[in-house]
Formats: sequence, structure tokens, C-alpha cells
Amino acid sequence: MKAALITTPGRIEDIALGEIAEPACPPDGLLVRVHAAGVNFPDVLLARGQYQEKPTPPFAPGLELTGVVEAVGPEAGGFKRGDAVMATTSQGGFAELAAVKASLALRLPAGIPLDVAAAVPITYGTTLHAFTQRTTLAKGETLLVLGAAGGVGLAAVELGRLLGARVIAAASTEEKRKAALMAGAHDAIDEAPAELVQRIKSLTGGRGVDVVYDPVGGDLFDQAMRCLAPAGRILVIGFAGGRIPELKTNRLLLKECSAIGVYWGAFARREPEANRANFARLIDWLKTGAIRPPIWQRFTLAEVPQALASLAERRVIGKAVVVVRPS
Ligand SMILES: NC(=O)c1ccc[n+]([C@@H]2O[C@H](COP(=O)([O-])OP(=O)(O)OC[C@H]3O[C@@H](n4cnc5c(N)ncnc54)[C@H](OP(=O)(O)O)[C@@H]3O)[C@@H](O)[C@H]2O)c1
Repeated sequence: MKAALITTPGRIEDIALGEIAEPACPPDGLLVRVHAAGVNFPDVLLARGQYQEKPTPPFAPGLELTGVVEAVGPEAGGFKRGDAVMATTSQGGFAELAAVKASLALRLPAGIPLDVAAAVPITYGTTLHAFTQRTTLAKGETLLVLGAAGGVGLAAVELGRLLGARVIAAASTEEKRKAALMAGAHDAIDEAPAELVQRIKSLTGGRGVDVVYDPVGGDLFDQAMRCLAPAGRILVIGFAGGRIPELKTNRLLLKECSAIGVYWGAFARREPEANRANFARLIDWLKTGAIRPPIWQRFTLAEVPQALASLAERRVIGKAVVVVRPS
């Protein structure tokens, strides 16, 4: 089968379209004919050999996908050949066929475009988990989203609004701020760390924000800690900015606030039923149009290096999607 292959991790541009053996159907899983796969920051880290998980080369990146079931493993209940599904995996989405665990797959109802659904699992799964299990984002609370026009960032803007929060989006360019306002943000500000505290003070009458959603880290994390209201929470999502910040605990004590770690992949493996319940809500919202994942650009399998380079160069707004099999 055809796949976008990493043979020697290191450089994005070394990924090449090639032939590799079709995966076997796992006993507790599914073999899926891939229609589309979402592009995520961890794919860039996998290509560079910098991700916490290191599959054995040659392998295809791609951690989320949609497609049609070709085969069902003997221990995999609830699915049949021909079902349309969305699924996550630790590798292999940028290929014609993918083997996935049934516990990390969900049937898709008719009417949901497979390329749009491919943009959902990781960014919306992470974000709903953050706002539901890691903290409870309550109606009327003020939410500050950093890197707000990225994949998880725009999901946080849209879900924050849907859950009734006042959403302040921070992003680096005018175009990205416009995209965040389109996705439902109430306010959009430049995220230059030096002015962040002042901008938040003036937008909140000096009170600060109840929740910070941080996929960037670095200086932005340090400044965002100063933007928290008393008893506020900062959600540690990622370090797209490159630096993993350190936290002085007196900052937690003084305002009785909390720093909360979020690792969706581990949660989905540890609590598949709770994860499934989150996804049932997401699929309902997809069906009703309550969420509309923004697709920045569609790429072919041969264009995977360009898709990853666009993400690494901070040009993607929302999601890039690889369309393996146009519907
Ligand atoms: N905890 C979890 O379970 C989980 C799940 C998914 C993703 N993540 C992590 O969340 C982070 C964001 O993932 P994503 O897929 O949303 O990525 P993304 O689409 O590239 O978004 C990242 C955003 O961060 C900002 N940014 C600041 N400095 C950057 C830099 N040096 N390089 C790239 N972007 C930079 C950019 O916004 P501006 O240009 O506006 O600054 C960009 O839009 C990553 O670290 C990823 O590993 C964690």
C-alpha cells in the first residue's frame, strides 16, 4: 500500500511517499481504508524524532483518521465491514490502510463529511477532556486561550463559547485573531508576552481570568500565570513555543490558583468509556453544526511534507487535513 513514510527521523522534508506492507487487522481492532487524516503538532515532532513516543522506522505518521472499516478483529465488538469511523492511533494515519484499536474508534453517523471529521479527534478530544475532566469550565467564567488560531487553540475557542464561557483569544497575527473571532471568541488580542498582563487587566477590569488554556508554554505561560484571577486554573496543554516553563509555587499559593496537566492520549487509554462519552457529545455537535472544525487546507498523501512544514512554520490556522481517498 502507499504511505507517507519516515525512514530516518530528523527532517520533515525527508518524508517520502512509498510502498509498505498493508497492516494486519489487530485481534482487538479494525482495519480501516483511510479517507482522511488530520495533521497535528506531534506529527512534526515524530518526523523530527523529538516526540515522547518513537515508533520503529519505516513508519507513517498520522495520529487521527476517518475511513471505512475493511475488517474487524475477533475480539473487536460493535463494528462491521462498511462502517464509517473516526479513530486515533499512535502512528499510521497517513496511509491507504490503517490498523486501529476498536476502543479508540467510533462509528460516524451518515451526513458528516469524513475530511471534516478527521480534524476533530485530537484537538476537540483534548479540549473537551480539559474542560470536562481536568477542570470544569463553567458558564459565565472568563477563558483565555493562547495560540488561539492553532489546532487545539481554535477548538478551545469554539468549545469554550459553546460551554458558555467568555472567551479571550490571544494570537500572533491579525489574520489569526480574525479566525478566532469567527470561531466565537468575544475578544482577540495580540499575544506578545510583554503586554499580555496589561491587556488582560484592561479587558477584565483588573480581576483576571478564571481559566487559561495554554498549548504554547515558554514566556507566554509565565505571563499567563500573572493573568489568573483568585482561585484561577491554568491548563498545561503543550509547549509549541519550544520552552517548557518552570513554576514557582508561591505563585500558586498567593492567589490560591492551580496549574493542571492535560494528557489526552493517556486519558483515552486509561478511561476509554469516559473518552467515548466525550466523543458522543462531539459527534452530536458535529451533526447539529454546533461545532465546525475549520480546515485551513487539504493536502494529498504525496504532499504530507508540505502539510507538516506549514504547521512547523506557524502558517496553519485551524487544521490541515490529508485527503487520502476523496469522497
Ligand atoms: N496535552 C495533550 O493531550 C495535547 C494534545 C494535542 C496537542 N498538544 C500539544 O499542543 C500544542 C499545540 O498543538 P496544535 O496541534 O494545536 O499545534 P498548532 O496548530 O501548530 O498550534 C500551535 C500554536 O502555537 C503558537 N506558537 C507559538 N510559538 C510557536 C512555535 N515556535 N511554533 C509553532 N507554533 C507556535 C502558534 O500560534 P501563534 O502564531 O498565534 O503564536 C500556533 O498556532 C503542541 O505542543 C502539541 O504537542 C497536546
